[in-house]
Amino acid sequence: MSKQGEALQHSHQERFGQAGRVFLAPARVNLIGEHTDYTGGFVMPMAIGFHTAAVISPREDDRMVFRSANFDEEIELGWPAIESGRRRQWSDYPAGVTWSLRKEGVTFGGFNLSLAGDVPLGAGLSSSASVEVATAMAVMSLANVSLPLEKIATLCRRAENEYVGAKSGIMDQFVVAGAVKHRAMMLDCRSLAFDLLPLPEDVRVVIVNSMVKHAVATGEYGSRRDEVEAGQTVLRKELGIELLRDATLADLDTVRSKMTPESYARCKHIITENARVLVAREALLSGDMKRFGLLMAEAHVSFRDDFAASCEEVDRLVEIASRQPGCIGARITGGGFGGCTVNLVSASAAEEFVAAVRSEYAKVTGINADCFVCAPEDGALALAGKEGAA
Ligand code: GLA
Repeated sequence: MSKQGEALQHSHQERFGQAGRVFLAPARVNLIGEHTDYTGGFVMPMAIGFHTAAVISPREDDRMVFRSANFDEEIELGWPAIESGRRRQWSDYPAGVTWSLRKEGVTFGGFNLSLAGDVPLGAGLSSSASVEVATAMAVMSLANVSLPLEKIATLCRRAENEYVGAKSGIMDQFVVAGAVKHRAMMLDCRSLAFDLLPLPEDVRVVIVNSMVKHAVATGEYGSRRDEVEAGQTVLRKELGIELLRDATLADLDTVRSKMTPESYARCKHIITENARVLVAREALLSGDMKRFGLLMAEAHVSFRDDFAASCEEVDRLVEIASRQPGCIGARITGGGFGGCTVNLVSASAAEEFVAAVRSEYAKVTGINADCFVCAPEDGALALAGKEGAA
């Protein structure tokens, strides 16, 4: 069992007097393909070595107790309380998953559920999907059901969209549940078909946290999504194109006058980004990392200028990273407006890269950035399948 799982099992037992079943769900980083998921496009995320652990044990009654070891808080809820909607706090994520599982027809009795995580919050590494998927795995085991990957991802997304009220796409929940060690995942967000792609062994994925916090559940993520959807509606009405992923730049130009300049620019980012993900897949398959790095650089410019969802600190980080020896590519990752950059760096240069980026960033912003050298990890399903892994 992982240290994290073991520690949570211990505190669960102390609090509830029962041992429970332990599950782990990772965080994720997206290599390329940003804000493309909710219009049926392409993304290329991978799971990383930060996790949410969940421990669940049954209760005699039908109450549901959600306990956060991180916040040292717990809340006890019955069905009427869960069904009456969110409480605008951390428990909305796990409670929303139980609500969503019920909608899926999964039945279960009361339980005690402990959660603990080491995923940096508000950093764009999907702490919320990690909590959702860990909860889903735990409650499914209590209910004695196993659902396929697509279902788990879809119901967790539904919890986030309809219960928590964050308008996210499917990428995070899908990769957090379905990732495979040593592989990046290219996901078609319309069909949910995916490829597992190898990253060269001599390349490291370095995540640098700008320390500027973002939250998907509030404000700007949603307003970008509205602008995108307004543009997509025009394409649908005028040209019969259902999803942005089927549109070309020429299509977009044809209907430019019928949408706001903001919608035009956001849609332009998405159309060019989808094309970049497809080329990035080819680059990975042929081991052309230079090409992959150039695509990351283009993706950042597009996210910054057309999608207008970067920020000064993150742009600084990308600029600093791009000039370091051994840096193959650098860009913002996740929902935007702060959070982390993802950098592909030659393994032999990774240590110096981290030191140089931290020191230059601190010099210009006064901020100490957290850096994580990562490799692609297993998702929650693979972890649950490996005996003793949790
Ligand atoms: C957040 C959302 C995802 C996706 C990314 C941007 O992480 O949860 O669905 O839209 O932002 O690519």
